[in-house]
Amino acid sequence: MPIFVYPYCCLCLLLLHRGNMQWIIRKHFWQSKCLSRLLLGTRHCSQKQLPVLILFTKDSCPLCDEAKQELQPFKHRFLLQEVDITLPENTVWYERYKYDIPVFHLNGQFLMMHRVNTTVLEKRLGRIEQNDAQHTE
Ligand SMILES: *[C@@H]1O[C@H](CO)[C@@H](O)[C@H](O)[C@H]1NC(C)=O
Repeated sequence: MPIFVYPYCCLCLLLLHRGNMQWIIRKHFWQSKCLSRLLLGTRHCSQKQLPVLILFTKDSCPLCDEAKQELQPFKHRFLLQEVDITLPENTVWYERYKYDIPVFHLNGQFLMMHRVNTTVLEKRLGRIEQNDAQHTE
């Protein structure tokens, strides 16, 4: 069974990335998800991509370390990417956030700065998760 399901999933993922014929692909994608769940009793291919949380930071930023600690209880709900604003390719972010780090973006949108606000984080994560759940049913 897995031999049958895996290639199908991978093909769907490839097609998804091509971004054309979106609705057909999405339909097939969800079907394959349900199929694999049915056949394997697992959630292969059903894992929605986690939201991406970007932390704008730099070396020796105690507030950033503190913020990361506060994120621990939430860490299974997003992918954390760190952007070092002192790197040459990040001068745009340096100019924007040099006095404000830690700054967080969630899925490309500003989320919070200076410190973690768990209320804000919970609310925005919850909204994204709810959206995902609706689209998978
Ligand atoms: C978190 O953000 C909310 C909404 O902006 C605000 O009302 C609340 O005071 C903030 N909490 C902390 C601890 O800063």
